Amino acid sequence: MEMGSGPALSFRGVSMVFPDGTHALQETTFDVSPGEFVTVVGPSGCGKSTLLKIASGLHQPTTGKVVVDRKKLGYVFQDATLLQWRSVQRNVELLAELEGMPKGERAKRATDAIRTVGLAGFEAKYPKQLSGGMKMRASLARTLVLEPDVFLFDEPFGAVDEITRERLNDEVISLFQQRRFAGLFITHSIAEAVFLSTKVLVMSARPGKLVASYDVPFAYPRSPELRFDPEFARLSGEISHSLRGAHV
Ligand SMILES: Nc1ncnc2c1ncn2[C@@H]1O[C@H](COP(=O)(O)OP(=O)(O)O)[C@@H](O)[C@H]1O
Ligand SMILES: [Mg+2]
Repeated sequence: MEMGSGPALSFRGVSMVFPDGTHALQETTFDVSPGEFVTVVGPSGCGKSTLLKIASGLHQPTTGKVVVDRKKLGYVFQDATLLQWRSVQRNVELLAELEGMPKGERAKRATDAIRTVGLAGFEAKYPKQLSGGMKMRASLARTLVLEPDVFLFDEPFGAVDEITRERLNDEVISLFQQRRFAGLFITHSIAEAVFLSTKVLVMSARPGKLVASYDVPFAYPRSPELRFDPEFARLSGEISHSLRGAHV
């Protein structure tokens, strides 16, 4: 066996019952390896965010085991959660600063990350001067600075318009191609899931459980036209069917 060829994130029989008795997740087992981009789709309230919180260590699971190197983990939330009183540059440096990264190093990484996400020239702007899409780019850059091996995304583009979302999807694909991290992405959008991923997992209503897994056969880079490919439509239809709880 090659060294380092194992999964970067591994869930084994993970379940979650909150102290108030809410059963949020049942017996969940899956792996994400470096160079894999796994997306989870499922109805609202089925336990998707809970899954990511367990992955990141914010919640301890009730049963089961998670294997991941949390020092190498990055987390992007639905809201950009930028600090209004900090410039783009200083927002993007924030997580690195909290980690105690030396100033010169974090400034350089932030400058690189800002360029990578297409925000060069906006370093000195403040969040209120940015569009929703630009805020999400800044949020991506802030996590990129940490150079994570495992990248968690919790419905990051749920609040932006469709065109902006598609552009941000292109950005995520380009990052994924450059860095080959292990990606775990949550979304409501089947099109987004298929467009981004190497694999799509479908979760049932609460208590969430993985009910289906689809390998996505398209090579990277993925062009925007892929969304009009008949095979793309076919796979999206199958996933949609599965999400509705039908037997396929
Ligand atoms: N800290 C908590 N305590 C109790 N119940 C919770 C807590 N966090 C989430 N839940 C419940 O667990 C279920 C799954 O929540 P969540 O993972 O946020 O769903 P999703 O992200 O799929 O919409 C929901 O019913 C939610 O109300
Ligand atoms: Mg959620």
